Amino acid sequence: MIISPSVLAMDYSRMKEQTEEVNASAAEWIHFDVMDGHYVPNLSFGPDLLRGFRKLSDLTMDVHLMVEEPHKFIQPFVEAGADIITVHEEVLHDYEKVMEMCEYIHSFGVKAGLAVNPMTDVRRLQAYLKHYDLFLIMCVEPGYGGQPFRPASLSKIKNLRKWIDHTDSNALISVDGGIKLDTGRECARCGADVLVAGSYVFKDDIGKAVDSLVHCIDRTQADRKDS
Ligand code: DX5
Ligand code: ZN
Repeated sequence: MIISPSVLAMDYSRMKEQTEEVNASAAEWIHFDVMDGHYVPNLSFGPDLLRGFRKLSDLTMDVHLMVEEPHKFIQPFVEAGADIITVHEEVLHDYEKVMEMCEYIHSFGVKAGLAVNPMTDVRRLQAYLKHYDLFLIMCVEPGYGGQPFRPASLSKIKNLRKWIDHTDSNALISVDGGIKLDTGRECARCGADVLVAGSYVFKDDIGKAVDSLVHCIDRTQADRKDS
């Protein structure tokens, strides 16, 4: 299980210290939520901030673009240190545009992700299973951290897991929004590979919170054997 702590929930007066705690934890990725105030009502960060994080950490930089014009920001985020760039299906929508974006992101030598919001039918991802490297299931409406997990996300994860396993695809399933110990465990049971977590990880002891999410999958595997 890959854990991707979301920078959105950091204490910005202690960014360096908290990044070092993430580095020392079992987290393999860092999730970087980019919001433009148009696609989502909130504003967050641009590439310059990612460049700063890149200097502080060797972890995989997992960039989630919640913006109306993602094509404008691919190159700047790659140059700032992104390893994975995820765009929203709802922004591109058209098959040709979704495919072109995948090729465009890959042309910079980084991995490409495709996200869907809670109200989007997960079947919209089916055409891209062999092309994108990661599919991000949003378990809350994008825009803010700290929202409650939507249980309807679980069937989307299950379906996506089934389709990926029946296709010649190595794509990862990532889940984002409302991930805590219980919801993370449910997502892991349904087949998620990556847990993005903001408020749960940055609440208190970062290392312990990450460890608990890593171990939720171990317990899940034990549960599976027992059942
Ligand atoms: C929401 C963001 C999430 C957010 C998750 O738009 O995409 O990554 O930071 O925060 P929590 O884990 O607090 O729900
Ligand atoms: Zn996110």
